[in-house]
Amino acid sequence: MADFVSGFWNMYVMVLVGLSLLFCLFILMSNNKRETGPVELHGHVWDETLQEWNNPLPRWWLYLFWITVIFSLVYLAIYPGFGNVKGALNWSSVGQYEAEMQKADAMYGPKFAKFQSMDLAAVAADPEAQGMGQRLFLTYCAQCHGSDARGAKGFPNLANQDWQWGGDPETIKATIAGGRMGVMTPFGAALGAEGVKDVANYVRSLSGLAHDSLRAQRGADLFQQNCVACHGADAKGMAALGAPNLTDNVWLYGSSEAVITETITNGRMNRMPGFGDFLGEAKVHLLAAYVYGLSNQPAK
Ligand code: HEC
Ligand code: HEC
Repeated sequence: MADFVSGFWNMYVMVLVGLSLLFCLFILMSNNKRETGPVELHGHVWDETLQEWNNPLPRWWLYLFWITVIFSLVYLAIYPGFGNVKGALNWSSVGQYEAEMQKADAMYGPKFAKFQSMDLAAVAADPEAQGMGQRLFLTYCAQCHGSDARGAKGFPNLANQDWQWGGDPETIKATIAGGRMGVMTPFGAALGAEGVKDVANYVRSLSGLAHDSLRAQRGADLFQQNCVACHGADAKGMAALGAPNLTDNVWLYGSSEAVITETITNGRMNRMPGFGDFLGEAKVHLLAAYVYGLSNQPAK
């Protein structure tokens, strides 16, 4: 259990703790003088007129120090702290954590188990499950996807009908459990600056954005040669690769010619971390239902 491979550091801590306690006691004893004669001046002067008397420490003040020494002895007797001595209570932070986890499992386990055995769409329609899912989402997902799940540049909006990797309940669950890695290869070198500009104009034309139609025409050919393998011949994307639909008005990075040019020139690499091992099946199930429910509100 101990983190140290030899007993040396335990001894080292024990000696240090013992010596510091002894030193405290020594200081206390050596200052434990009662008023004997008349109070005298030490002879030190600061700031022109400030002088120091040799009054003994007030008793209550001294007792406070005694109490701290006694407290530390009692503390070391019942809690760990004195080298590898465990203390009378046998307390450990791991033990406390495990006890709390057990308590929480006993309290919430049955609820998680109930939802886990239900179909995702049914869980998504359950207000209590959505509440639990939202709390999990705020804890584990909001830092990237936003507390309203509407995402940010590079972090997809999860509250709309547009999906990179697929929006059916089981696919959402697989995304959360296993994570995803979206990779778009760079085309700057292959197409050259002009080619990239042409194809960027074509991409903008797909969703009806302002574009240079001559460039877009040339770009259409380049798109067929270079991009359809991932984005599909109709440019509507391919869920298996996480390649987004380029014909709609939902953008992961941005729709301006500059941003699209940047995407095509340098490529993109984007990772959604997997949560399956970390959160476990029951929580991933609730989260998947929550995310699915965001864009699939059941009719009331
Ligand atoms: C470290 C940041 C980060 C965290 C934390 C994170 N995500 Fe993601 N998530 C991403 C990124 C980035 C993507 C896009 C991946 C890509 O482009 O292929 C993504 C994609 C997704 C997708 C796929 C969206 C689609 O359109 O197919 C879902 C669903 C999702 N995340 C859910 C969650 C849930 C639920 C959590 C909390 C358990 C979570 N994410 C936590 C960064 C994060
Ligand atoms: C290897 C597969 C692949 C190829 C080839 C590919 N893409 Fe992509 N593309 C992707 C993926 C995957 C993403 C999403 C990246 C992410 O998850 O962050 C993407 C993202 C994009 C985006 C960003 C969309 C947004 O919502 O911001 C644009 C624009 C784009 N691609 C255009 C193109 C063009 C134009 C070509 C051809 C020159 C091309 N892609 C070739 C896979 C590919």
